[in-house]
Amino acid sequence: MQQWGADRIEELTALVAAGAPDEDLTADELLTACFEQPGVVLGPSDGTAAVAVGVGRDASGELIASVRLLVVRPDRRGVGLGGSLLDAAERWASERGAERIEIGGALPFPLWPGADASTGLVHLAGARGYEPVREFGSLELPSSFRAQPPEGVVVRRAVRDEDVTAVTLAVAGGWSRLSDEVARALDHGTCHAAFAAPPTDREGLRGDVLGVGCHSVTRATWVGPLVVRPADRRRGIGHALLAQVCRDLMIADFRTAEVPDPADPGAEAFVVAAGATVSRRYVQVAKVLRR
Ligand SMILES: CC(C)(COP(=O)(O)OP(=O)(O)OC[C@H]1O[C@@H](n2cnc3c(N)ncnc32)[C@H](O)[C@@H]1OP(=O)(O)O)[C@@H](O)C(=O)NCCC(=O)NCCS
Repeated sequence: MQQWGADRIEELTALVAAGAPDEDLTADELLTACFEQPGVVLGPSDGTAAVAVGVGRDASGELIASVRLLVVRPDRRGVGLGGSLLDAAERWASERGAERIEIGGALPFPLWPGADASTGLVHLAGARGYEPVREFGSLELPSSFRAQPPEGVVVRRAVRDEDVTAVTLAVAGGWSRLSDEVARALDHGTCHAAFAAPPTDREGLRGDVLGVGCHSVTRATWVGPLVVRPADRRRGIGHALLAQVCRDLMIADFRTAEVPDPADPGAEAFVVAAGATVSRRYVQVAKVLRR
């Protein structure tokens, strides 16, 4: 297996287009997920398959690995390339101290939230000792969804310097695990924030950041990070942020917004209340790595 550098991004994009044509993955999305994060892209010298794997800390601080991409060109399937690539990814991750490896999700900037249940990936992983941890559905909602913020709250795109600074500080203070993804959304102009409206006699003062709603951070149409301060939940702020995300996507000609992994029942109920339905099924699969 060879290590691919970012100079081979066009080749990787063409390989993904051949191997996963329905995914519509762009060179920019692949570059962000596979080359701009701590990790590696490995493949056979003839360029007919590739695996991207990264390492990082999960929410509990454990060093883990995430397979970000595994693709084999259709005419080279059935000869064991997928398994060899997974082996190479596991070796690379073990050498870097990862305790566990997962397919999709797990670390920031994923291209898939888990292993797509409709592909052979779950089977391939199962045969190599990966255990299913959780099954879940991603959700999609029409980009026509709209909702107004509650009284005393304003939602606007975070582009002005003061707003960008306020959002950056609020995220670092309250949701530091989301900092990298929110920073990218701020760079791309795809981060909206909910602020407490300043009292009229203090016009010009900036209010507290009550929540942030971002989209298209790793993949176009993907919603998130989207989070509201615990003390301000169930006031309609989340839906107002989601509505701004949907408005952006509709303007960009997307019919739907995708929530790749509604991580808990509350988040799922929140998106379903906005009209979302299940779009794809995924399985979170994980394997303990021995060093
Ligand atoms: C999910 C989250 C963003 C919702 O924010 P919010 O401001 O509380 O959401 P809203 O007030 O706009 O909720 C609108 C509707 O969604 C549903 N809803 C929201 N949170 C819910 C929950 N925990 N359980 C059940 N339904 C919920 C309700 O129907 C609610 O309307 P109601 O309050 O009139 O019953 C917030 O709980 C949060 O930050 N969670 C942690 C981050 C997260 O999971 N983000 C993923 C979002 S996809």
